[in-house]
Amino acid sequence: MQSIRKRLVSNYVAIALFTVLLLECIFTIVISQYYLGGVERTLVNHTETAANFFNRYADAGDIYTKSNYIFENMDVEENALVEVLDLSGKVVIDSTGSASDEIVTTGDFIQALSGKVDTWKGRSELDELIIAVSAPIYDDNTIVGVLRYVSSLEPTYKIIVNYTLFVALCGVFVISVAYIFGRTMSLRILVPIQELVRVTEEVAQGNYKVTAIKYHNDEIGQLVDAVNIMTKEITKSDQAKNEFISSISHELRTPLTSIKGWAETMQDLQDDPAVVEEGLHIISKETDRLIILVNDLLDFSKLQGHRIALKKEEFSINHLLTDIHNQFSVRCHQEKVKMTILTDNKESWVIADYNRLKQVFVNIVDNALKFTAGKPRAEIKISSQVLDDQIVMIIEDNGSGISPEDLKRVKEKFYKGSSNKSGTGLGLSIASEIMELHGGKMLIDSALGKGTKVVLVMPYYYDTQQFEN
Ligand SMILES: Nc1ncnc2c1ncn2[C@@H]1O[C@H](COP(=O)(O)OP(=O)(O)OP(=O)(O)O)[C@@H](O)[C@H]1O
Ligand SMILES: [Mg+2]
Repeated sequence: MQSIRKRLVSNYVAIALFTVLLLECIFTIVISQYYLGGVERTLVNHTETAANFFNRYADAGDIYTKSNYIFENMDVEENALVEVLDLSGKVVIDSTGSASDEIVTTGDFIQALSGKVDTWKGRSELDELIIAVSAPIYDDNTIVGVLRYVSSLEPTYKIIVNYTLFVALCGVFVISVAYIFGRTMSLRILVPIQELVRVTEEVAQGNYKVTAIKYHNDEIGQLVDAVNIMTKEITKSDQAKNEFISSISHELRTPLTSIKGWAETMQDLQDDPAVVEEGLHIISKETDRLIILVNDLLDFSKLQGHRIALKKEEFSINHLLTDIHNQFSVRCHQEKVKMTILTDNKESWVIADYNRLKQVFVNIVDNALKFTAGKPRAEIKISSQVLDDQIVMIIEDNGSGISPEDLKRVKEKFYKGSSNKSGTGLGLSIASEIMELHGGKMLIDSALGKGTKVVLVMPYYYDTQQFEN
């Protein structure tokens, strides 16, 4: 993590440094051109004006004659040294009034000899940065000498250097700001990331009840939300897993305890045929219970993991209801429960897995019978009708009903409410899963002491209406 922070900060500083250096270079070039160009233009103007003036008005004669006129009529520039040179480059006289044996050979002088006004920049004998501008002096169209203006560039360079230093100072300030900004920004990004790392490490160690703090409402904030949702979901499924395991253990322990108890009793009382017979009967019943439980569990896990392939076929719900009626009629008769089936006049076609849908009805009708039997005028009504593009099937009983608290949870696996007639509590959860696999749903409405209504809804298969006739 440290390296990300360093990288972020150095990126900011590098960008600032590059920008500052670029601006500094541009600034230095512009300001140099502005000041140096200004000095050069002024000096060229002066030289040209003076040379023109003297060429026009100075007395005829050689350069010595002209130089007297020149210095008598010249406004001596304070910042510039004015020299009059003969054709060999020797200084005839300068604005300080002295002559010199020094020979000038710079480019401006050479160009002036060929009739041009020219500029030269370089170092003087005293190692001073200077600029010189030379213009020819004519006598009757013949070049007889050169007028040369020499000015120091040191003050100009001083101004340029001062400006450049000032801009460099600004640059240092900008880079410092970039550094501080980079550190602040990196903290803004890194702190939430470190928080996420902390949370994921906790999750990796099995502590799912951890929540990441959301610092900002940005992309990392969204990631924090996602991680928090993930940990909540993991906690939920962990709880569900634990509940599931404890429910299964509980369900298995009851029949197994009974089987073991009866096996030991039979061992002790082998000579009593009545005890042995009852023991065998109970062991067989409990084993059946175990087989049903294990089958239900297998079914449920396959249904929930969508690992079950539905064998879909076209059939009429009316046909299925007749089948259900036949299957339960004997039991209804024994339990003194009246069962009525009410179907639509037309066939209600569906495309579904017949056996799975039958399993749904068996579970629900079994419940209705269990919890209605023994009541006066016990009745189960099963009906089906087509409503728009759906088939609605209702299984209604006038049995014990379900309390509002239980009603909220009856679809959960292993939830059985408080009745002593309850089984393993898997029937309705399996039924609900099967309905959802068919693109349908199961709704339950109930009033304690009055009865229960289970509504099954699933898509109606239009195309097969042709089979009606
Ligand atoms: N028609 C009903 N009348 C009253 N209570 C009902 C009815 N149907 C379901 N219940 C309540 O809902 C609980 C869950 O039903 P579910 O069918 O899932 O499990 P079960 O019947 O107890 O066991 P299983 O179906 O696995 O043998 C029941 O135990 C019962 O308390
Ligand atoms: Mg049941």
